[in-house]
Amino acid sequence: MLSSDQMNAIKQSAPLLKAEGTKLVTVFYQNMIRQHPELLNQFNKTNLMNGSQPEALAATLYQAALYIERLEELLPAVKQIAHKHVSVMVKKEQYPIVGYHLIEAMKEVFGLTEEDETLAAWKAAYDIIANIFITIEAEMMEENLKQKGGWADVKPFVIKKKKQESPSLTSFYLVPEDESELPIYETGQYITVQADMPGEAYVCSRQYSLSDQYHPSYYRITVKRDGHVSTFLHDDMEEGDILQVSMPQGMFCLQGDIKQPVYLISAGSGVTPMIGLVKTAAHQNLPFTMIHADRIEDVTAFEKEFERVLALSPHGRIILCNEQFEASGKGELVEKVASRIDRSFLQSVIGEGEGQFYLCGSPAFTQEMIYILKAIGIPEQNIHFEVFGGQSMKEIEVV
Ligand SMILES: Cc1cc2nc3c(=O)[nH]c(=O)nc-3n(C[C@H](O)[C@H](O)[C@H](O)COP(=O)(O)OP(=O)(O)OC[C@H]3O[C@@H](n4cnc5c(N)ncnc54)[C@H](O)[C@@H]3O)c2cc1C
Ligand code: HEM
Repeated sequence: MLSSDQMNAIKQSAPLLKAEGTKLVTVFYQNMIRQHPELLNQFNKTNLMNGSQPEALAATLYQAALYIERLEELLPAVKQIAHKHVSVMVKKEQYPIVGYHLIEAMKEVFGLTEEDETLAAWKAAYDIIANIFITIEAEMMEENLKQKGGWADVKPFVIKKKKQESPSLTSFYLVPEDESELPIYETGQYITVQADMPGEAYVCSRQYSLSDQYHPSYYRITVKRDGHVSTFLHDDMEEGDILQVSMPQGMFCLQGDIKQPVYLISAGSGVTPMIGLVKTAAHQNLPFTMIHADRIEDVTAFEKEFERVLALSPHGRIILCNEQFEASGKGELVEKVASRIDRSFLQSVIGEGEGQFYLCGSPAFTQEMIYILKAIGIPEQNIHFEVFGGQSMKEIEVV
């Protein structure tokens, strides 16, 4: 329990964290990784280098400072981070390492000393926050193990089938090497895949959404050729090869208790969780509208699969968008619109806009969609999103 003086000290450091938080956590990560390079097995080096991971941590510390007297209000955000932590196999023994380097970085960047009350307050606050994460993550891991076929950390999966869906999208059908039945997951969830790449001292971990509904014998992921690991998966991983895979995690799932129309809006590889989600919405007889934009050569990758969904769904619409379509029109059932997903297009499709909105894509795309939806009057609590890439401070502030 923090004393009221400690709470005040933390609250007073909020403006400093807002202004200098990214600098603080950049120093923190540099020092921590230098002393514990083995953490690169878990962290995505690109997210560390492009600053999105430092920004995500800085945003969380800033929020913690603002909400220090009512941390329970941050629980949804904490749960989302905890899902990521479980997926990348964060252990409770690692919290003191992070705590130590965070406090050392506060000394270095903010000029605090061991005698400062603010530093003592942050040490105490870190322990409280770390314990909240540790408790929630332990519950999630226990839940995973309780499921039939559940496992801890990663286990080997064989690439049973590799299917090119479009010039830059490839699906991988992953089957457990021990051929056990897979535990049930919710559509919209993701797995962590560890790639053991030649020339790399550590495994490279990346998250991939499950791109179909539950099947007891395989996971399907669909990977867009984009950089280091995805190119390796496309070019070097073949049928019969092994990948280490975590259990599914994540909260980007249909709000099961709300029977409202479902709007799924995605761009690029953001289509992947939407494929499972649109099938789930159809299965639950929820009216749905899916809108997806991608490069012209990729946008129709799943058109046949979508046609099959629509054939069984009288209240469903699936709209593929690309400005280079020669004209707007219909395939059999899937609609094609020669437009980008902008405000006037969204407004024409959404109308009054009652429903739950699910967004997935790059940080820039997601942020733009959130901005538009809020501008046309969609309540914040009806907007749900998954960002492919580190979650930056800006997005957390928008929602
Ligand atoms: C919850 C979640 C689910 C996801 N689901 C999917 C999915 O279903 N399918 C999918 O394809 N992806 C998905 N992703 C993204 C995926 O995890 C990887 O981030 C993606 O495959 C890119 O990884 P990479 O190693 O290939 O690229 P990286 O090498 O990590 O590069 C990522 C991006 O940064 C750019 N970049 C790298 N270095 C630099 C630099 N120095 N300067 C400028 N730009 C640079 C690259 O060009 C690339 O666009 C998901 C991410 C999350 C968090
Ligand atoms: C109280 C302490 C901590 C806080 C506030 C925190 C915060 C965060 C946040 C905000 C994210 C981004 C989540 C997302 O992308 O959705 C994240 C991801 C992550 N965290 Fe933590 N974290 C803490 C402790 C730890 C510890 C102890 C470890 C252990 C090494 C760790 C390792 C990771 C990793 C590997 C990721 C994934 C990053 C990536 O995309 O590469 N974190 N954390």
